[in-house]
Amino acid sequence: MQENRSGRKIHHERESRLSLEEFIEKAPDFTTGERIAVREILESVAEGGREVSHRLALGPLHGLTGSSGQVNVQGEEVQAFDEIAQEVFSGLLGASGRVSVLVSEEREKPEVFPCPTDSFYVAMDPLDGSSNLAVSGPVGSIFALYRSRDGNEDPSRAILESVQDVVCAVYVLYSVSTLMVVAFREEVRMYALDPASGGFLPLPGPVRFPDGGGQIVSINTANYTRWDRGVQAYVDTLHSHSSWSARYVGALVMDFHRNLLKGGIYIYPGDLPKGNGGGHPEGKLRLLFEAIPMAFIARAAGGLATNGQKPILELPATHIHQRVALIVGSRERVQEFSRISGSPEPN
Ligand code: AHG
Ligand code: MN
Ligand code: MN
Repeated sequence: MQENRSGRKIHHERESRLSLEEFIEKAPDFTTGERIAVREILESVAEGGREVSHRLALGPLHGLTGSSGQVNVQGEEVQAFDEIAQEVFSGLLGASGRVSVLVSEEREKPEVFPCPTDSFYVAMDPLDGSSNLAVSGPVGSIFALYRSRDGNEDPSRAILESVQDVVCAVYVLYSVSTLMVVAFREEVRMYALDPASGGFLPLPGPVRFPDGGGQIVSINTANYTRWDRGVQAYVDTLHSHSSWSARYVGALVMDFHRNLLKGGIYIYPGDLPKGNGGGHPEGKLRLLFEAIPMAFIARAAGGLATNGQKPILELPATHIHQRVALIVGSRERVQEFSRISGSPEPN
């Protein structure tokens, strides 16, 4: 990194564009066979992202902006596109021959696929923020690749035992542009869909949280009375920080992505136990499909993620649909949240 005359650190002098293939080639930690498996899985994600992006754009013309009339395993209303995205990604990932176990927010049980050779477990939220579709707002798809291990007959147990062994995380953001953001252990890269060629073309990177950690805070403060004193104390300080800005789209992928590029923090706390609080004592977001992938991407971009007590990437998992409180963003903003709310400071 270099400094300009005013002493401000500038990254872009060393920025480069790496194709997805080049990025996978230089990622640490993989055998040759695993690298091929990662490439084929990410190619399936890219193909699915292209397909979902195309269908989302036509959604309003086909009347596909709302509910399918069903309720998912989380007890939430299933939007028509949740199911479309589920089918697209499950079909492609299953057919890749590189995903032995697939768990999804939209399926109660894992899907198991035969894999003759190197493979990974994948957890996905096929369509995140789908209630935004009613207003043509941004949505996303989230994926985490977990290292598979031999000898576990029960696919749920197998993936639960691998949650601290995440090797790659990806999200696709469907917004003004369709972007794919990919992270390996130490680096994050960003790709933009060129609708004409169908390719995801590299943007300059690596992507890091900006110096100073940024000023954006994303939290649904309508839930204030459901939170403990620590989280409330943090929210109270927002009013005295004139430099901070509140931004909340209600789609984790979009809120996280903005905070990654501009600097900031996304917070979805757990509620106080029922009676005092609301319906999500452990938080609303899901550990395997939402919190872990975003935590992995944040760490690779120089940021942090915690549930308020422990780093997200160190949490054990007991259930594939487990929910968790999520505080994720730049190192500076997450450490500051922990200081003000009186929770252990992550590092
Ligand atoms: P999903 O559409 O996959 O169920 O996820 C929605 C999540 C997340 O994307 C978003 O940040 C959060 O729910 C918004 O929740 P509130 O409306 O409770 O703020
Ligand atoms: Mn989601
Ligand atoms: Mn979803």
